[in-house]
Amino acid sequence: MQNGIAVLDFGGQYAHLIANRIRRLQVWSEVFPPDADTTAIDGFSGLILSGGPASVYDPDQPAFNSAHLNSGLPVLGLCYGHQLLCQELGGEVARGRIREYGSAELRIQSANGLFAGMASPLVVWMSHGDVASRLPAGFEVLGTTDDCATAAVGDVRRNLYGLQFHPEVAHTARGMDILDNFLNICAAPRTWTMAGYAETAKEEIREQVGGKRVFLLVSGGVDSSVAFALFNRALGPERVLGLHINNGFMRKRESDRVADALRDEGFENLIVEDASEDFLLSVEGMVEPEQKRLAIGRAFLEVKDRVLDRMGLDSDGWLLGQGTLYPDTIESGGTEHAAVIKTHHNRVDVVEELIARGLVIEPLAHLYKDEVRELGNALGLPPHLIWRQPFPGPGLSVRCLCSPGVGADPPDGEAEEAARDIAAGAGLGLRVLPLQSVGVQGDFRTYAHPAVVWGEADWAALEDVSTRITNTISEINRVVYLLAPSALPALKLKRAFLTQSRLDLLRDVDALAMAALEREGLSRTVSQMPTVLIPLTSDGIAETVVLRPVETPDFMTARFSALPFDFVRKLAREVLSVEGVETVFYDVTHKPPGTVEWE
Ligand code: XMP
Repeated sequence: MQNGIAVLDFGGQYAHLIANRIRRLQVWSEVFPPDADTTAIDGFSGLILSGGPASVYDPDQPAFNSAHLNSGLPVLGLCYGHQLLCQELGGEVARGRIREYGSAELRIQSANGLFAGMASPLVVWMSHGDVASRLPAGFEVLGTTDDCATAAVGDVRRNLYGLQFHPEVAHTARGMDILDNFLNICAAPRTWTMAGYAETAKEEIREQVGGKRVFLLVSGGVDSSVAFALFNRALGPERVLGLHINNGFMRKRESDRVADALRDEGFENLIVEDASEDFLLSVEGMVEPEQKRLAIGRAFLEVKDRVLDRMGLDSDGWLLGQGTLYPDTIESGGTEHAAVIKTHHNRVDVVEELIARGLVIEPLAHLYKDEVRELGNALGLPPHLIWRQPFPGPGLSVRCLCSPGVGADPPDGEAEEAARDIAAGAGLGLRVLPLQSVGVQGDFRTYAHPAVVWGEADWAALEDVSTRITNTISEINRVVYLLAPSALPALKLKRAFLTQSRLDLLRDVDALAMAALEREGLSRTVSQMPTVLIPLTSDGIAETVVLRPVETPDFMTARFSALPFDFVRKLAREVLSVEGVETVFYDVTHKPPGTVEWE
């Protein structure tokens, strides 16, 4: 790929979004580590230095190859990148008088260059403690906020710019226009389109695969379906084989539906293997989410090898294709400066070994969910395949919480007391639950308790209570709202593992919830609606179900969906009528601090 924008990733939460935003402006963009060799960005038209969690004066800041600044390319530094740019060119960075988080007003000094076509002031999104306290020679101030005198700076002659705020996040009102102006400064050709990308991706696939063939695990979700279509178009069906594994964690009748849908599109090179028993055995007696994920990831590859053997296919002649997206990599801690939030099934150790040996091909690895859908469209896949709600590779296994029956006691009385006070302020009752779920806070994984609240409230009040509790009480990373029955039963934790009967129960509830969304025409409003089974019970048998509808463009951050209350109440009653369910909650936690799945 030529003539794009290279993004150097210093580990900031939104670093990955920059490339996505640039591609939305029809310019190719790719993310590189900050110590990449300068030859890696040969042919690019401009450089963006991302934000990052470190301070530029920290001893353990990410290694940076400063030769990039001698390339003569236009440079845009954002947040950490802006401070680094100033420091590297002879300015100074210091701890600011106050920390600035959230929205601020930027007064622009000149409506040219980066701010062409914009009127002052602009609403911008800040998240920083440090500031550029002295500018390098040749630099001038281009914009200020009340708390930051160097919020936008630049050396216009050399096309070097630094912004203390984040134009890449949706909350910066003219953020896309600022990036657009930077692309004009770079004279970056606006030639990138998804259709063009599909052609380039096909060429790259042919080059990487050489004389071999591709064996792809096809779950039937949008990522693997698009990857399967792309491989088929690039190599022809005789050099591609899709394997759909029924791992026993699929939705009701999901495997049949997936096979039918792909065959209807003319993909005959797909085989289906029922391996539910192998998978159930692989997670027998397990509770810890990461342990379950690793076991499931390994089981996928064991079944794949078994099928290859059985078909007499020599594994040396095949590459493993995967529909991995960028967020899968970053959340698995797969970029150099990011923490492990969870190990996605396509990033477990055995896959990493295959990657190290050059035996894996992932043509979607730069893309985000919204872009994959666009690619599916460019490849001519029908909307019902492209717009399926995402379903995780490990399937219902990450929605069926397990427990040895003891040991997840709620935190001490003080934390519960503090949470109860916040809830009481909104007229709600509260109890911290004796179990833990995975969340993500401040770029790190958490494993903490949910709290349940009950009483009369609208979504805005629930959002407020949930945010205040999770922001202030570290022992609590999620808040759920009691939907049914009307009074909270005396729930206790029970011993529970991934068993056929629990999975069947969850499958029934999920089918019911999916049908209800479809019936009400809410399937596109809601990006995804997991239903989660948690082993909390009052009679020792029946369990608790959590509805977790979320809305998000990219699944890196998400809002809980504020669905119509009538619909939610009706659905809760339906769920409660399923034998084996005694309580229904609604998750009112955003991501962060919760994740979409509970694990
Ligand atoms: P979280 O729970 O991380 O979920 O907020 C974000 C999105 O990722 C999906 N997910 C997975 N998808 N393999 C996948 O293909 C996985 O291992 C995996 N884990 C989570 C999740 O369903 C949501 O769409």
